[in-house]
Formats: sequence, structure tokens, C-alpha cells
Amino acid sequence: MAEDCLVVTVDGPSGSGKGTLARLLAERLGFHWLDSGALYRVLALAALRRGLSLEDEAGLARLARGLDVRFEASGAGEPRVFLDGEDVTADLRTERCGAAASRVAALPAVRRALLDRQRAFCRPPGLVADGRDMGTVVFPEAPVKIFLDADLEERARRRYKQLKEQGIDANLRGLLDELAKRDERDRSRPVAPLRPAPDATVLDSTRMSIDEVLERALELVSRVQPQPR
Ligand code: C5P
Repeated sequence: MAEDCLVVTVDGPSGSGKGTLARLLAERLGFHWLDSGALYRVLALAALRRGLSLEDEAGLARLARGLDVRFEASGAGEPRVFLDGEDVTADLRTERCGAAASRVAALPAVRRALLDRQRAFCRPPGLVADGRDMGTVVFPEAPVKIFLDADLEERARRRYKQLKEQGIDANLRGLLDELAKRDERDRSRPVAPLRPAPDATVLDSTRMSIDEVLERALELVSRVQPQPR
């Protein structure tokens, strides 16, 4: 890890608010942001479009290594994501894509293929990286590690609201089942399972507002970087 790049990792299950926290933290600190889930989602989308089997580990790893993906900042919102030059930001947010991402993410060769790409996001002055294994595998030496959790029902409600706001049709019951299934797959897989790093601070956001979570996170960063910008 580059010495002049301070890494803050934010891991947690789907809908815990880690993406929102990571984006706000990056904004407040003037850091870069890696949404690692988007990489797995782009890969899944590329595989679905090419008709590649989600079990073809070697084929998916090859696809991951050659993936033409670009992130472009878009003001205060989430960055836009381009696959082969096409803006696929909206396609990535569907549950179909999330479920397929969670399947390809369980394959060890795929995870290895995306490792260097993720580490390359680390540039001065710092990086906020969100995902499932940022603190355990990708940036194990990060000085600030946060594991953001929340009750399943609350996470499903948040995801429902988020999708509705984006104009994507959603069903709360279906979402809850899908999240539970995805969590189970992410937690039980043999490689890089979803779990807090031993040195992570676990925050339960079920009854916390995003501002409260952000303040707690900034406080943790200030312990290693006394004057965050
Ligand atoms: O965070 P997001 O819901 O976009 O991630 C989609 C899927 O990608 C997750 O369910 C998980 O299986 C996988 N993922 C992962 N490791 C990461 C980020 C995401 O396995 N660091």
C-alpha cells in the first residue's frame, strides 16, 4: 500500500448503508472512492450480456482481467460506470445484477483477477474502499476499518426506497428474500467471506441516521489523521 495513501475500509452486508457512508466520507476527506461491488456487478453484467455461464470460473476470470470499465465522477452523486464505453450505471443497480454479482464473486479465480485492479485505486491523499473484503483481503493493512451492519428488515426497506427513487420497480418481500439469500452466499463462501476484520470497528446502523454514522466514521479517521480535510 502506498505510504501517501491513507486507506479507510467500509465493509458490510447489502443495504447496510456502506455505499452512502463511503461516498460521503470520501467527499468530506477529499479521498478517492472505490465501490468494489460495482466491479463485481459490471463483471456479472458483462457475463450475462455475453451469455457466459456464471459457473465458468476460468472464462469469468479472463473476462475480469480484460474488462473495459471506467468510473466517472458525477457531481455529488454516485459515479457513473461505463462498460465498453457504454453508461451502464442504471443496469448495475438491478437485483438481477446484484444476485449474479454475488454468484461470480464466490469464485476464487475471479476474486484474484480483480485484486490488482482494486488496489490500483489507492492514490494520494487517500482512499475509501467499500465492499465485503476490503478490510480482510484487499487492504488488510488499512489503519481505519469499519464494518457497517443493520437488521435485515431495515436493509430491505432502505434498498426498496433507493430503488424506487431511482425509478426501478421493486417489491419489498422479494427484496428481503433476495438480500437474505445474497447475504447467506456472501457470508458462507470459502473465499473472502463477509465478516468483520479482527481490527474493524463494528457499527450497527439500524437505528442511526446517516449523519450519525458519518460522524462516528470521521471520528475514527481523526484518530489516525488528526486533521481530516
Ligand atoms: O455491494 P454490492 O451489493 O454492490 O455488491 C454486489 C455483490 O458483489 C455482493 O453481493 C457480493 O457478493 C459481491 N462483492 C464481493 N466483494 C466485494 C464487493 C462486492 O464479493 N468487495
